[in-house]
Amino acid sequence: MRYDALPDEAVELYGSYFSQIAIRESSVVMRQVRKELVSAVESMFGRKPRVVTAKPKKGPLVLLATADDPELAGLAEIGRLKDLPRDGYIICRTEQESGGCIVAAGNSDAGVLYAAFHLLRLLQTEQGLDGLPVAEGSPNKLRMINQWDNMDGSIERGYAGQSIFYRHDKIVRDMTRIRDYARLLASVGINAISINNVNVHRTETKLIAAEWLPSVAKIADVFRGYGVKLFLSVNFASPIEIGGLQTADPLDKQVQRWWKERAEDIYRYIPDFGGFLVKADSEFRPGPFTYGRDHADGANMLADALEPFGGIVIWRCFVYNCQQDWRDRKTDRARAAYDHFLPLDGKFRDNVILQIKNGPMDFQVREPVSPLFGGLKQTNQMLELQITQEYTGQQKHVCYLVPQWKEIVGFDTYAAGEGSTVAKAVSGELNRLPLGGMAAVSNIGDDANWTGHPLAQANLYGYGRLSWNPQLTAEQITDEWVKLTFGDDPDVTETVSGMLLRSWSIYESYTAPLGVGWMVNPGHHYGPNVDGYEYSKWGTYHFADSRGIGVDRTTKTGTGYAGQYNEPVASLYGSPGTCPDELLLFFHHVPYTHRLKSGSTVIQHIYDTHFEGVVQAEQLKREWLTLEGKIDPSVFRETAERLDMQIESAVEWRDRINTYFYRMSGIPDERGRTIF
Ligand code: GCU
Repeated sequence: MRYDALPDEAVELYGSYFSQIAIRESSVVMRQVRKELVSAVESMFGRKPRVVTAKPKKGPLVLLATADDPELAGLAEIGRLKDLPRDGYIICRTEQESGGCIVAAGNSDAGVLYAAFHLLRLLQTEQGLDGLPVAEGSPNKLRMINQWDNMDGSIERGYAGQSIFYRHDKIVRDMTRIRDYARLLASVGINAISINNVNVHRTETKLIAAEWLPSVAKIADVFRGYGVKLFLSVNFASPIEIGGLQTADPLDKQVQRWWKERAEDIYRYIPDFGGFLVKADSEFRPGPFTYGRDHADGANMLADALEPFGGIVIWRCFVYNCQQDWRDRKTDRARAAYDHFLPLDGKFRDNVILQIKNGPMDFQVREPVSPLFGGLKQTNQMLELQITQEYTGQQKHVCYLVPQWKEIVGFDTYAAGEGSTVAKAVSGELNRLPLGGMAAVSNIGDDANWTGHPLAQANLYGYGRLSWNPQLTAEQITDEWVKLTFGDDPDVTETVSGMLLRSWSIYESYTAPLGVGWMVNPGHHYGPNVDGYEYSKWGTYHFADSRGIGVDRTTKTGTGYAGQYNEPVASLYGSPGTCPDELLLFFHHVPYTHRLKSGSTVIQHIYDTHFEGVVQAEQLKREWLTLEGKIDPSVFRETAERLDMQIESAVEWRDRINTYFYRMSGIPDERGRTIF
């Protein structure tokens, strides 16, 4: 959204169209479309466009309108709009009338907004308009961002400063930054946001009460202009904590009434309120279990309160026993979400969506895809990703996650035969369900560059683009982001794209090996600590001893987790001979001498990847340095500094991991490199 001046050639080709914009400001969204376009055109073409509300007889011009606008009558292309989803749009060129016209038409106001951003993106990435017409629509009804912001201004797992929403237990008054954020999100198709941490503490519990609703409504007003619906995370024990009741039992009539009244109140302030996001019976948060009820009882009670207003409940499946005894080898945290929620399939109201983390554990650099996606058949579901890099370098390391997310959405669950991808499960297509989509934990804060690491912006951008269209390739998304951010210099595009696309695999290579996960410092989760979680209550073990490592999750001899998948995936993961190398230790306990498909032994793989990971981290730095003078100096410096932190941390990871496993196994490195 830099809207840099376009090259002369583009100005010559398109300048006349963009000298005149026809748009009716029939809604707050259409007003923002007009504003965005006018300021973008002024800055790209160097001239303020003339804005008219009715289409003039003569072109050239750009016309923005919704499908029902009479100005579009008779335009052949517009007929295709009805085949597109609700926020779908078409951009086309008509040369019939004198001067010609570029039409950006949407099925809804938000569709027009997305069309406008698409048009601007084409110009900014210098693709020009030769590729028109384009027709797009998202298969995902919800494309959501979850803020984990607390009202004291802190952000749970935030690595880019303080909250842009709250400070000192209050909602900020100056909404400039929030407005900018809404623009950023809309530009990549995001249409929903929850604005407070899923761990709803004392102060935040009151966000649904009269005290805070007027201020929450002001935030909702800002997002509304950009087609983004506002949600709140709620505390399941609210009836007790702020309602003065003795219980939060979902089957209690008073409790039900209390939530209904809350809903009425909220919708008085925010008529298009999205609904509630709920973390219940998870990591010490209250929930229906306290009252001997299940998650369907809890979610349905809230859903009934919101239903008259069109609201929905997004209920998280991150439910497991976080008080496990490490000596207990039967309990397996990986099984928990499936074991809790599969028996409830079909018991949830139509306005409930289950939000499922991508993997069965917790956003590790490598995990298998949660088997719930291929299990639930009668329940709306949503994929939860983590943009904030809690376990992937905390925005000190460059770790571009789009390639990981592509694997996740493309994963075949075989729920209804081959091709039953996660993308289809969460869009609702697979099981013909009405609601669904994607959500992701945000990585932004009040740092001037939004994300701490300048290159971490690519993750936010990439998430938005992917949630709009899961079919886009990682390369397409990367290319767009790099061009939009750094311009069109081929050196820069090639270097930065190359760095981003390799970064996840580089990060994986010097951290926990072969899918085993969790070798991080407890609490803050940064940096290596092989046994940090080994004897804890969190259910996160690797079971390394002098002979081998890994978790036996097979059905025959292990926890049975592998059996939660449909065939042929269950069998694939169920045997060390067929299990993909990168997930071997997630599913199997094997000796260090076990030979991988790559030909290497497990121990040699550990040494090789850890040595190579540091070499690659250093290489990232070298590549970045070649761009000096071609990148904004402050972005260049900030990134170079972070690459130094990454190298330092990668060295620490390499040496700790290699030394630990050398001491455990007693097997030396075949290549005789230094291990301490
Ligand atoms: C992780 C994370 C927590 C977070 C939790 C969740 O465990 O470390 O900070 O609250 O996930 O997703 O609810």
